[in-house]
Amino acid sequence: MMFNKMKLWKNQNNSSILRDKINKIKELPVPEHVAIIMDGNGRWAKKRALPRVAGHHEGMKVVRKTTMLANELGIKTLTLYAFSTENWKRPKNEVDYIMKLPEEFLGTFLPELVENNVQVKMIGYKDQLPGHTLRAIEKAMDQTRNNNGLVLNFALNYGSRLEIVDAVKKVIIDTQNGKLQSSELDEQVFSSYLMTAGFADPDLLIRTSGEIRLSNFMLWQLAYSEFWFTDVLWPDFSEEHLLEAIEVFQKRQRRFGGI
Ligand code: FPP
Repeated sequence: MMFNKMKLWKNQNNSSILRDKINKIKELPVPEHVAIIMDGNGRWAKKRALPRVAGHHEGMKVVRKTTMLANELGIKTLTLYAFSTENWKRPKNEVDYIMKLPEEFLGTFLPELVENNVQVKMIGYKDQLPGHTLRAIEKAMDQTRNNNGLVLNFALNYGSRLEIVDAVKKVIIDTQNGKLQSSELDEQVFSSYLMTAGFADPDLLIRTSGEIRLSNFMLWQLAYSEFWFTDVLWPDFSEEHLLEAIEVFQKRQRRFGGI
């Protein structure tokens, strides 16, 4: 049976095999924070002789399925790398298209997110985002502010090295103006200067499309995360794949440097 062809969440008619898997996974601790590098949209489109943006559009639909399953599994935070500070180098038509996706996604699915108690957040540099993109995200953040289910955190115009450099600059300013003593600076305090302040570090990082690299994503925050890579292209990423990643995570022993 092809699970990725099923409209699982639309009709709430999970197949019994998938439902059993979900129940089994929920018997063990699930990762609290899952971060995903959603890669392979362009290749997915190329394989079908479609324009690259068709891959991004298909990828947007997978964002919905993944969000709904993560929420059902009791994952607390799902961070999705949607656009990096380096992605501005792409052709203008592709950048413009990606910048319209949050509006389309939230325009269609915000009521469903609200209904399912999902809270929308974002990390990344807001200033360079087009007004229409930022407005869509801010509206969603506002309308889901009081929800306490899954946090759906979009990393949009996000770059980890710049985030770290900016955090260092803020630390310097705070030590100069007396808000922070340099002796007080430790890992926890430094984390509070990052865009992810208030978020737990990801427990599990997933990257699709067969690339084995971090691409400037959450370099500080992923220090002790488990990594799961798959050759599956993001538009083909199904509920089955997320469950498989979590099953693998549940079998791993995390030692955080201990024995
Ligand atoms: C990387 O694949 C993907 C992106 C840079 C864009 C990701 C965006 C989405 C999945 C949609 C986001 C949806 C919302 C709601 C914001 P690639 O284009 O680098 O693929 P390739 O390596 O095969 O060329």
